[in-house]
Amino acid sequence: MNTVLSAVCLSVLCVPCPAQASGQAGPVVPRQTVTYDESNGVVFREKDVWNYTTMLLREDLGLLILGARGVIFGLDINNISRKKASVNWAVKEEKKKECTYKGKSSEIECENYIRVLHETEDGRMYVCGTNAFSPTCDYLTYSDGKLTLTNTEEDGKGKCPFDPFQRHSSVWLDGELYSATSMNFLGSEPVVMRSIHRETIRTEFKTSWLNEPTFVHMNNVPASKNSSEDEKVYLFFNEFAVEYDFYSKLPVSRVARVCKGDVGGQRTLQRKWTTFMKALLKCPVMESQLPYLVQDVFRWCRDDLSSCIFYAVFTPQMGSSNSSAVCAYDTQNIEEVFSKGKFKTPASVGNSFVKWVMYTDEIPTPRPGACINEEARNMNIKSSMDLPDKTLQFIRDRPLMDQTIEPLYSRPVLVKKGPAFTRIVVDSITALDGSSYQVMFIGTESGCVLKAVDYGDQNSEEMFIIEEVQLFPSFEPIKTLRLAVSTGCLYVGSELKLVQMPLSACQRYPSCVDCVLARDPYCAWDVTAEQCIRLPASASSELIQNVTDGNPFQCPVSAREAPQAKDLIFIEDADVHMPCQPSSNFAQLDWQRNGEPLPPSERHRLLRNVLVIGRASEEDSGLYSCWSTEQDVRILLAMYELKMDDYSRSAYHERQFQKSSLETLKVMVGLLTILVFVLSGWIFYKGYCGCLRQSRSGDPAQHEGRMFKPLRVLQHRTGKQTTPLENQNNSHTRHEEE
Ligand SMILES: *[C@@H]1O[C@H](CO)[C@@H](O)[C@H](O)[C@H]1NC(C)=O
Ligand SMILES: *[C@@H]1O[C@H](CO)[C@@H](O)[C@H](O)[C@H]1NC(C)=O
Ligand SMILES: *[C@@H]1O[C@H](CO)[C@@H](O)[C@H](O)[C@H]1NC(C)=O
Ligand SMILES: *[C@@H]1O[C@H](CO)[C@@H](O)[C@H](O)[C@H]1NC(C)=O
Ligand SMILES: *[C@@H]1O[C@H](CO)[C@@H](O)[C@H](O)[C@H]1NC(C)=O
Repeated sequence: MNTVLSAVCLSVLCVPCPAQASGQAGPVVPRQTVTYDESNGVVFREKDVWNYTTMLLREDLGLLILGARGVIFGLDINNISRKKASVNWAVKEEKKKECTYKGKSSEIECENYIRVLHETEDGRMYVCGTNAFSPTCDYLTYSDGKLTLTNTEEDGKGKCPFDPFQRHSSVWLDGELYSATSMNFLGSEPVVMRSIHRETIRTEFKTSWLNEPTFVHMNNVPASKNSSEDEKVYLFFNEFAVEYDFYSKLPVSRVARVCKGDVGGQRTLQRKWTTFMKALLKCPVMESQLPYLVQDVFRWCRDDLSSCIFYAVFTPQMGSSNSSAVCAYDTQNIEEVFSKGKFKTPASVGNSFVKWVMYTDEIPTPRPGACINEEARNMNIKSSMDLPDKTLQFIRDRPLMDQTIEPLYSRPVLVKKGPAFTRIVVDSITALDGSSYQVMFIGTESGCVLKAVDYGDQNSEEMFIIEEVQLFPSFEPIKTLRLAVSTGCLYVGSELKLVQMPLSACQRYPSCVDCVLARDPYCAWDVTAEQCIRLPASASSELIQNVTDGNPFQCPVSAREAPQAKDLIFIEDADVHMPCQPSSNFAQLDWQRNGEPLPPSERHRLLRNVLVIGRASEEDSGLYSCWSTEQDVRILLAMYELKMDDYSRSAYHERQFQKSSLETLKVMVGLLTILVFVLSGWIFYKGYCGCLRQSRSGDPAQHEGRMFKPLRVLQHRTGKQTTPLENQNNSHTRHEEE
């Protein structure tokens, strides 16, 4: 069944994420390609429900909360195919009418798409839906196995988009919702807002703050425990640049941040952020002139929260390239730019044209945009309300930094050609060597999940893509990606379904060598159990793993059985196919026949995973073996005993016999001819010599008549073993005698 499925898939559904290398970084071909198969993960899909694109993991409840169109599901986090609860949240009739009246399609846009789902401090959930272009929020509870909406129905303006096709982002922090979305029907008024508990504060509606943005991701960076610094919330988005002279609007990526303690200004920036600062986010990919645009971001922090890194996926704009990239940003570097960097300021050029240049004059104190810190408190400034107008006016007019945010090591951690990246999550795992590695899981537009680790160090990068798994058919882009540490699973959503997939399928590696070559930090070979197991393992077992080099020489001398030779009977003149599936895209295959390298022949076609012999004949019979070489390890993968079928063989032998009789005949005829020729040659020679003698003896005219004489002599002497010379001499003698 599986093979049928994947075969169908291979030919019809998938342009499997093509394994193509890019110029910039090392080998960016995934080591393994797992083709589409329903068994790649556990699937959740409910009849007549789509758009499974909002997810919240409630590991405490053992639930995955899934927001779809008009409904919220509570799924078993251990097996999402088990639906534990659900609650409908459909659009009311009059709302739908209103929406269609305003020109939106009733079937598509005038539905309630769940877009915001957060866990609140009291264990409930905060949920918002587009509700037919009339965004609405509510609280959701789970008790006695039931999901219930409390029907408080808060206004969702500024918290959730009106338009279900518009991107947005939000984060819940200490009882408040930080949201970045558009707050009007037309989707033309962008806002970054904090609401719910304290008085709502938001961004200025000015193009210098937000210029037709597409919001991508929002998250806080937890303050380290002994820090007196205020906590910050970061926002990643794309917008049109104000600072470039470009013939058309140029989209660029930005990171902005606000401080959690911000409550707005007293007179200036009333109920507006006093700490909204933004900077250009760079992810330099060589092959593109136009800046890459951020598509998704994942915040990864060390366990002790001492540092955090934002991993971001970028795609090219306007078909400038076919490579996607991942860049990583240290939050300390970002904060450094905001807290110490220079500002940009608008400068008039001519009458109307405004150019943004570096601000070089004196900067007011306290520093504009800074969170309330020790220094400010010493100046008796306890909250943003106490900030002087000068500071506030400065930041209101100059939210853009002059410096750009550079990625770690000033380069992408991964650049890969092929279907565009859409989403990313990052996990951290301690391998057997004691080091901890960050494993990136990247979703693509073509329904694939890539799993990649950087095994390099500060000085050199070595990006290794362990595998690519075709989780959805290629026309289903990955829209959501979540990772649950408690289940060790990835939850992957498209518009059409949700799939749960283990972070590692170690059982896919059948031998120690396969297990070690995979360089999967989650997997190690258990010597006793003779299995590739998922870490962590029980303490007693002896384990083999080598993620940094993928060197399998510690593996016990193969306990793995050599493959049995398969008999393969073929009909003469038919094409023979001998499949041999390499266990990795890095493996080199070679074939042997009867222990010798397969001689090159025009009839042998060595495809990626099959040897084809065209118009096979008896000479092709023999023992074929397929060998795979990877990392200097040579493994016998398959053996075939190739035999011609009995009928063809007897026919062959018949023909062969006839052919050989004919050959014999030919040879005999040939021999006879030669014999005759030799004989005549000899006779001629003999005759000629006689003639010579005769002529020497002075009678050339008698040449012809003398020809027959030697023959007689020969006949006389055939029985006698003599050398030709003797013979000649004798005959000569005889001749003389006669
Ligand atoms: C909802 O899913 C359907 C089916 O894939 C898709 O056509 C539609 O664009 C989705 N709607 C939104 C708002 O993404
Ligand atoms: C998940 O649950 C379904 C239905 O209960 C069951 O058939 C399936 O085997 C389970 N899968 C796993 C991986 O546990
Ligand atoms: C927090 O404490 C640790 C150890 O006590 C120290 O190394 C670190 O620098 C401190 N961090 C800050 C921001 O003060
Ligand atoms: C991207 O790929 C498409 C299709 O393979 C090709 O036509 C196009 O030229 C490529 N663009 C670039 C910039 O490489
Ligand atoms: C991995 O193999 C290399 C040799 O290729 C060796 O130097 C290294 O120590 C090995 N690492 C482990 C953890 O065994």
